[in-house]
Amino acid sequence: MSASRLNQVVTGLLPDTKKAPSWGLFCVFILLLLAQVALAVEKPPAAAIASAHPLATQAGHEILAAGGNAFDAAVTVSAVLAVVEPYSSGMGGGGFWLLHRAKDGFETMLDGRERAPLAAHQDLYLDDQGEVIPNLSINGALAAGIPGQPAALVHLAEKYGQLPLKQTLAAAIRLAREGFPVDDYYRRMVKWRLDALRQSPSAESLFLQSGEIPQVGHNVRQPDLANTLELLAEQGRDGFYKGKVAQKLIDGVRANGGIWTLEDLADYQPIERVPVRGSYRGISITSAAPPSSGGVMLLAMLNILSRFELEAYPVVTRKHLMIEAMRRAYRDRAEYLGDPDFVDMPIEQLIHPLYAAGLARDIALGHATPSKAPYSTVQSDEGRDTTHFSILDKEGNRVAATLSINYPFGSGFVPEGTGILLNDEMDDFSARPGVPNVYGLIGGEANAIEPGKRMLSSMTPTFIETAEGVAIMGTPGGSRIITMLLHGILELQAGGEPKDWVNKPRFHHQYLPDEVQFEPGALTADEVTELTRLGHQLKPLKRSYGNMQAVYWNKKTEAVSAASDPRGIGNAVVH
Ligand code: DON
Repeated sequence: MSASRLNQVVTGLLPDTKKAPSWGLFCVFILLLLAQVALAVEKPPAAAIASAHPLATQAGHEILAAGGNAFDAAVTVSAVLAVVEPYSSGMGGGGFWLLHRAKDGFETMLDGRERAPLAAHQDLYLDDQGEVIPNLSINGALAAGIPGQPAALVHLAEKYGQLPLKQTLAAAIRLAREGFPVDDYYRRMVKWRLDALRQSPSAESLFLQSGEIPQVGHNVRQPDLANTLELLAEQGRDGFYKGKVAQKLIDGVRANGGIWTLEDLADYQPIERVPVRGSYRGISITSAAPPSSGGVMLLAMLNILSRFELEAYPVVTRKHLMIEAMRRAYRDRAEYLGDPDFVDMPIEQLIHPLYAAGLARDIALGHATPSKAPYSTVQSDEGRDTTHFSILDKEGNRVAATLSINYPFGSGFVPEGTGILLNDEMDDFSARPGVPNVYGLIGGEANAIEPGKRMLSSMTPTFIETAEGVAIMGTPGGSRIITMLLHGILELQAGGEPKDWVNKPRFHHQYLPDEVQFEPGALTADEVTELTRLGHQLKPLKRSYGNMQAVYWNKKTEAVSAASDPRGIGNAVVH
């Protein structure tokens, strides 16, 4: 029982003390004592960080060793990832930081998601005929939403951290100034976005080598980014959203077809939101709230699956049921979800067990339910840009953070003199109802572009509490993020360890396109045959996807473990 819930129990007993003062007071005393004991033992024996890059994991641990808490380490890890994984996340992007504060059990989701510029409108990416103009929401200045990460890091440091930004940003500033070496992973990401990066002189000089894919070992220096980070450390949010950095951002964006204004930057605010909560067979899930669809969808899928005695079925039937649960949840995503500050959403209903019971009722064990409304499909083959990290400190504070600039190297555009690689998160809006985005996701009115609105996300930083302990989990992977969390949680529920959750071969369905995408090894030949017989369209993927980072504190065995997805180059360190 968490300390805060225990406190509620104590408060609930207080009226009894009037009737029987001494006995009541004694009970209160005992309960308070128990609360103290509970608090005292609620500390993990070690801290742990799992992130997508060894330099980020290391920098995070150094901050913990210097007296920082998990929130300070989260600032450091976010900033270092922004430097050494320029293809995944950055100060020109945004994200969600799910926080758990140990001393009082307080939990919040820090929403540092990008928002549409104030001059944006529904037809921003449409031509005169109302058709979507290819790539306009993916490459270049017009594709970028107003960044949220700098403001979110300042908020995180000031409200929850213990160390000054100068200290927590120091590692990122040093790495930006001194550089980091190119590896094969970096080269693969550049290869994918070479054309977009060549369109922006600043991006080309930063991330390419003489206009080409850099050699392994080439040192990537980002002096302008170091300067911008220094201003952020010295001046807080004004160092980015006002003054000379802001002016350079606006000048660069507007000279290259973008529509940002100084007001857009000055207006940006990170928002704390109440996380989405639910349970599945005795485990509690705390996850991302809108404007992420993640938590709602995860609970929707788990609620549907909880209607079935999964272990009682052959493995292939279990997989069929998972696919059907995924299909139904993603149908609702497209219809209902968007920015909570702009749209009314039936969240209570979408995560209600009775609603799931209704959805589960029309799942047939003997055949697939076809998805309706066919449309042209776009599906990216990768799924490791965007980033996630999980942190547990020795006090028991936790952070699960998923951060993004969307596509690899975001929009590919860097406004001159800023070092800030801009996101292309505007593509996460539905450019036109029913037209799929880069992840093949469709959307409707709820996720239409509006001035100042946050685009719907799939990022799903999550805490999972079991009878034994607590897990911190998340991954990149576009539309497949949420089903990866489902795989991870089912693996956890089956008794696995972090390495099992992150290793597990994955399959995915998102309603449309009506196909089951699966990694090598996720389905056996017999399962492929049987699922095909049930009417599923199976689409084997050439490459694996995702980059899950997980931490687990087993309170029963008093052990902390962590794992970084073998599909990526990250690492997990328990200290
Ligand atoms: O917020 C979202 O859902 C996307 N921008 C995330 C993109 C992503 O995970 C890319 N990874 N493959």
